[in-house]
Amino acid sequence: MLVTERDKLTGELKKLVEECGGDRSALIPILQEVQKRYHHISDFAMQIIADLLNIHPVEVYGVVTFYQFLSEDYHGKFVIRLCQTVSCLMQGTDKVAHQLETELGIEFGETTPDSRFTLEWANCLGMCDQGPAMLVNDQIFTRVTPEKVHDILEACRKAFGPHTAQMMQEELV
Ligand code: FES
Repeated sequence: MLVTERDKLTGELKKLVEECGGDRSALIPILQEVQKRYHHISDFAMQIIADLLNIHPVEVYGVVTFYQFLSEDYHGKFVIRLCQTVSCLMQGTDKVAHQLETELGIEFGETTPDSRFTLEWANCLGMCDQGPAMLVNDQIFTRVTPEKVHDILEACRKAFGPHTAQMMQEELV
């Protein structure tokens, strides 16, 4: 990372910490916002956040690696999380997973080369009676079928640029 990029990121993080409150209780909201803006949380960002909150970097690292929705690794614009828990598995998760991998050309745990999509497994999303359940960023989809996967991915591709979860909500839910 260039010095100017580091300075810019440091300035943005300072502003964010001010907005969220400068104590330890603000750590998770700050990390969620960094993840949302930058699609990952770099070592440099973790160090700066630790300094600004006056906590040890290991604590920040521990939170980033503990929570599934935070990541050191770069995530695509659209993070697709498919429920792998038993109720959804019994309702057809395997077929949905196969369709996702086939259409995107990646496996779970990977990001497409164009940085648009990341595929991840998730544990129960709280929609067990309407499985298979799947999250695309913050948007939940239920009773997902291979056909619906195709439509969802097409909507994501159309929305790419100014991503609007709202647009997907209106079109698909
Ligand atoms: Fe999939 Fe609960 S088992 S949402």
